[in-house]
Amino acid sequence: MSAVSLDLESEILRHKKEKNAVILVHNYQIGPIQDIGDYVGDSLGLARAAQESDADVIVFCGVHFMAETAKILNPSKTVILPDADAGCSLETSCPGPELEKFLQDNKEKNYYVIAYINCSAHVKALCDVICTSGNAVKIVEQAPKDRPILFVPDENLGGWVMEQTGRKMDLWKGSCYVHVEFTQNSIQKIKDEYPDAAVVAHPECPKAVRLLADEVCSTEKMIAFCQNSPAKDIIVVTESGMLNRLRKEAPDKNLIPGPTEHCACADCKFMKMNTMEKLYKCLDTLEPRVEMDEKLRKDAESSLLRMLEQS
Ligand code: 13P
Ligand code: SF4
Repeated sequence: MSAVSLDLESEILRHKKEKNAVILVHNYQIGPIQDIGDYVGDSLGLARAAQESDADVIVFCGVHFMAETAKILNPSKTVILPDADAGCSLETSCPGPELEKFLQDNKEKNYYVIAYINCSAHVKALCDVICTSGNAVKIVEQAPKDRPILFVPDENLGGWVMEQTGRKMDLWKGSCYVHVEFTQNSIQKIKDEYPDAAVVAHPECPKAVRLLADEVCSTEKMIAFCQNSPAKDIIVVTESGMLNRLRKEAPDKNLIPGPTEHCACADCKFMKMNTMEKLYKCLDTLEPRVEMDEKLRKDAESSLLRMLEQS
């Protein structure tokens, strides 16, 4: 590591201590940010870590909806993120006002609304319960049997949960722009190159890709799968940052990034907006911060707390 990056790292750690901050990091972040995090994990683990934190400042290295979730659960804490423009295509595929209108227009259906955590505070406030890819099956299994379910915003995760639970749901037509880049053809090609490899895929992938996988699971569950799989070669069909984490946790495996039609691996441009420089700057200035209206926060909090109770 160069002297410049070492300095940056020690400056980040100095500010972190001075400000009594905790650094929460999603599995898709670049390696140096993962290395400096107090907690690295998936959306479910990060929501729990935010809920349990006793730091004054939460620095969230992920995308905006994740930092917003931390603020919803910690209204009295300062929540900052390295880049406030780090969005998510799933969040934008289900705008709050559109969901509100849909629910109004379909009032007679009395939907039980389950929202994947990759959504805005407005959508969280409109739904009954939140889920993550790590607990979606459990949450859907606990939904009232006498009401139809509307699942927003990811139709691929929703489709996978329907297959797992046998519970029919109406699906919002949203998707992750990264995971839909994996195709049956791109994954079959790499399987042909590594005929003995196991395949693990994120449930945000399209069905044709999920069908080629030995295991479909959240990013955190991929760790146990890779550690316990008898296969030496494992094709990992998700965002490339996961490979950093897996190479540390399962060092004896040959971990192969799942390719798309056009690229040898898949990067989320939003996750990759965060850099060590921006992390340093946000700890120094305590900006940008996540702020929100208290009524909106409270409404969003109840669906998040229901998820944490049920998972
Ligand atoms: P996980 O909760 O599985 O980490 O997924 C988050 C995400 O954004 C996947 O694209
Ligand atoms: Fe959103 Fe997809 Fe990026 Fe995850 S990988 S943050 S779902 S755009």
